[in-house]
Amino acid sequence: MDPKNPGLLAYLHPAMATVCLLLCFVVLRQGLAQRRARLRKTPAPAGNLKRHSSLGPWAVGLFLASLVGGLGSAVALREWAPLGTWHGRLALGAAILFGAVWLLGRKLLDNHKALANTHGVLGLLALFLAGVAAMLGLSLLP
Ligand code: HEM
Ligand code: HEM
Repeated sequence: MDPKNPGLLAYLHPAMATVCLLLCFVVLRQGLAQRRARLRKTPAPAGNLKRHSSLGPWAVGLFLASLVGGLGSAVALREWAPLGTWHGRLALGAAILFGAVWLLGRKLLDNHKALANTHGVLGLLALFLAGVAAMLGLSLLP
């Protein structure tokens, strides 16, 4: 593979990651609806928590897969050193935060309610970091 002309395969990671970010955004909106209900002591939308806690692991899993895909694409198709870009480093930071969000989410489901705020704030931070990484990713497109 010529790293100067990596072909259409180099767009696979950006396309998959974009879908993943949209999914993360949906999950964040569900989480924020839970937060509103918690703070206002009103009932959350019916089925919202169930949808949030079943879609959440998919979003985090896809994010980790996107990280591996990006690294694979950079090394195999573009012949770059791994984590040589700020896009990759910020994405790694976001992935670590998403991992913590996942762990806290599991604890929340086990009724450790005091962790709700930390889970939510870390989720927001992770998606913000991922968004900045995605912007930087645009400049890496072939
Ligand atoms: C990975 C699997 C996930 C599980 C199992 C999970 C689980 C939960 C649960 C049980 C709550 C309700 C907390 C309460 O009792 O009020 C919650 C709230 C929330 N989640 Fe998740 N979640 C997950 C992923 C995510 C992700 C990926 C995000 C962000 C992108 C996110 C953002 C939020 C937010 C903002 C809240 C509101 C927290 C608050 O009340 O302050 N969650 N989540
Ligand atoms: C889910 C979010 C994302 C994650 C976790 C992620 C992760 C990564 C990682 C780790 C690399 C390797 C670069 C390095 O090691 O420094 C990479 C490469 C790359 N990323 Fe991302 N990225 C994400 C989103 C995006 C988006 C939204 C775009 C474009 C719009 C993008 C475009 C690229 C490009 C062009 C490369 C070079 C490899 C290739 O051409 O396929 N990434 N990404």
